Amino acid sequence: DWSMAAFREEMVAKIRAQVGTGKVICGLSGGVDSSVAAILIHEAIGEQLTCVFVDTGLLRKNEGEQVVSLFRNHYHIPLVHVQAQDKFLGALAGISDPETKRKTIGKLFIDVFDEEAGKIDGAEFLAQGTLYPDVVESISPHGGPSTVIKSHHNVGGLPDYMKLKLVEPLRELFKDEVRALGRELGLDNAFVSRHPFPGPGLAIRIPGEVTPEKVKTLQDADAIYLDEIRKAGLYNDIWQAFAVLLPVKTVGVMGDARTYEDVLALRAVTSSDGMTADFYEFPWPVLGRCATRIVNEVRGVNRVVYDVTSKPPGTIEWE
Ligand code: XMP
Repeated sequence: DWSMAAFREEMVAKIRAQVGTGKVICGLSGGVDSSVAAILIHEAIGEQLTCVFVDTGLLRKNEGEQVVSLFRNHYHIPLVHVQAQDKFLGALAGISDPETKRKTIGKLFIDVFDEEAGKIDGAEFLAQGTLYPDVVESISPHGGPSTVIKSHHNVGGLPDYMKLKLVEPLRELFKDEVRALGRELGLDNAFVSRHPFPGPGLAIRIPGEVTPEKVKTLQDADAIYLDEIRKAGLYNDIWQAFAVLLPVKTVGVMGDARTYEDVLALRAVTSSDGMTADFYEFPWPVLGRCATRIVNEVRGVNRVVYDVTSKPPGTIEWE
């Protein structure tokens, strides 16, 4: 891509000019934007960059490991992998209100990030994968999908990392341009075309209290759902697809036995910006295969339903 190759060179020069010999910290979320920002900055300043990935345990199945391996093994970018899964799940215990979940996660995220950033001696800059739409407006009533820090930063106070100067190389780009830049930087298509994912992660896809067992169940079911969507060649027709683990038990039969287990809702929408969205019209056989596999392969789920609400009046997420 001619224009992206030019943009890449221009940004590398700009980053070098801004940063000089200073040290930069980049918060990785596991998503496309912060990854592309980090790879671009690394190209510009190499070892002056340290990435910090706070693993909340609330990402999709295996996505944390994928990000760590991409950065360490493929790009050889210095990465601090903070294993904070237990902290986050501990902090969420007993909480079921959606906004309280968001605030709890956001506050803890900042504390953990701040502590790690403080260990990186002499850092002057904080890099973020802020995009143009994030600069202009927040697209969600809950905070909007965006960079690792912005999406969590709804809690007030002024943490230490805020004293750092910002490096935001993607500020002029839209999502599809970031994807093109990612490809230009050697990221594979499957990675750059990932669906948007909310900062609070799976916690807002488990209505009611979040427990480690529920997170595991949801991760397993969600992975099967996305696997079937990919196999059917539908992934790129969809803006976001995900599963929601409901706090409702219903009756089923398995062999000769009666079961009494959780309901899983599947959601998929088309959209151009997340502001409005239509439910996705799946071919029925694909949904049927998802339901069969999920009930057979995921312990604790015996019924699968599909959400046919568009936005408005529904929201994309359930919380
Ligand atoms: P809703 O549910 O408001 O979602 O229709 C619109 C878009 O925003 C994402 N979303 C969030 N992103 N933090 C985020 O970073 C959040 O708390 C949050 N809540 C919703 C949602 O995934 C969709 O892309």
